[in-house]
Amino acid sequence: MVFYNFNRGNLIELIMKKIGVMTSGGDSPGMNAAIRSVVRTCLYNNINVYGIKRGYQGMIEGDIYKMQTTDVSNIIQRGGTILKTARSKAFMTEEGRQEAYRQLMKHDIEGLVLIGGDGTFRGAVKFFEQFTIPAVGLPGTIDKDLSGTDFTIGFDTAVNTAVEAIDKIRDTAEAHDRLFIVEVMGRDAGYIALNSGIACGAEDILIPEQITNIDEVLSRIDRDERRKKNVHIIVVAEGDDFGGSKEVSSAITSRFPELDVRVCILGHIQRGGAPSFSDRVLASRLGHAAVNALLSGNTQVMAGVVNGKICFTPFANVIKQNSTIDADMLEMIRVLSE
Ligand code: F6P
Repeated sequence: MVFYNFNRGNLIELIMKKIGVMTSGGDSPGMNAAIRSVVRTCLYNNINVYGIKRGYQGMIEGDIYKMQTTDVSNIIQRGGTILKTARSKAFMTEEGRQEAYRQLMKHDIEGLVLIGGDGTFRGAVKFFEQFTIPAVGLPGTIDKDLSGTDFTIGFDTAVNTAVEAIDKIRDTAEAHDRLFIVEVMGRDAGYIALNSGIACGAEDILIPEQITNIDEVLSRIDRDERRKKNVHIIVVAEGDDFGGSKEVSSAITSRFPELDVRVCILGHIQRGGAPSFSDRVLASRLGHAAVNALLSGNTQVMAGVVNGKICFTPFANVIKQNSTIDADMLEMIRVLSE
């Protein structure tokens, strides 16, 4: 059914009047700013907006409520997500997806805004193979492991959190002449490790996109020891092929038992905290663009930013098969850590 909105003197053709919004997968700083943007853009266009709690899991359970403008007051600066989030096992099943669709129909949801990462878009691809409902996605993940966007909501904040922590580690490492291995998040992608490692002047950065040659890592430590370099920081992504920080640590201590080696796993602190200004702006722009895309019929796409401009990529194409890192970047790391 087509609705006409004569709001603010413009004739706007609206194809829907009830939009659902959810956050799914691992939370990321800026998700709240994205929800705020979606809700306020919907309300501006006289569209009812419904929050779906806990992602696909809440969709299945019908945990859906009508949102007002005050629901999103005072959240732009907050980490986490007011809609909560989950990784739903039930949504991976045929029955789960059927129930999710039934609940959306029961609540008369005519369009969806999905905020999440890789798993959210994999779920979306499966869901929309079976069911027809207009949807637009937003990239909400600290991992930055999606195609179709230069940045994802939360990545900038997570890298800044890691940088702040590694800088602190460098102080104590220097005071004790210790070698530190710092593990950052990134199960399948090394963007947090790469960027925080470069920004902190790490001596080595180990990422899933590049096969780790542990002998090379050890010989760089040997060289630095002979040069009496007193701090050696290795940033390792949790998904590095050699294993995590503990595996790297045991390889180092068995070759250099005299070295004072410590491991620090940054973990979930990278997912929390107030979003950076860039994540707030990105989330606001993408939330607004997503609702406008839904209204103009540009659906089953993720809104992203490429070279500063909003662009849209079909769901299936945002899922990266293999994430790749610019070879020049890897070369630069070698040079700068000499
Ligand atoms: O959301 C992405 C991420 O933080 C990954 O970097 C990490 O591997 C994973 O989520 C951890 O997930 P969980 O919080 O479910 O343990």
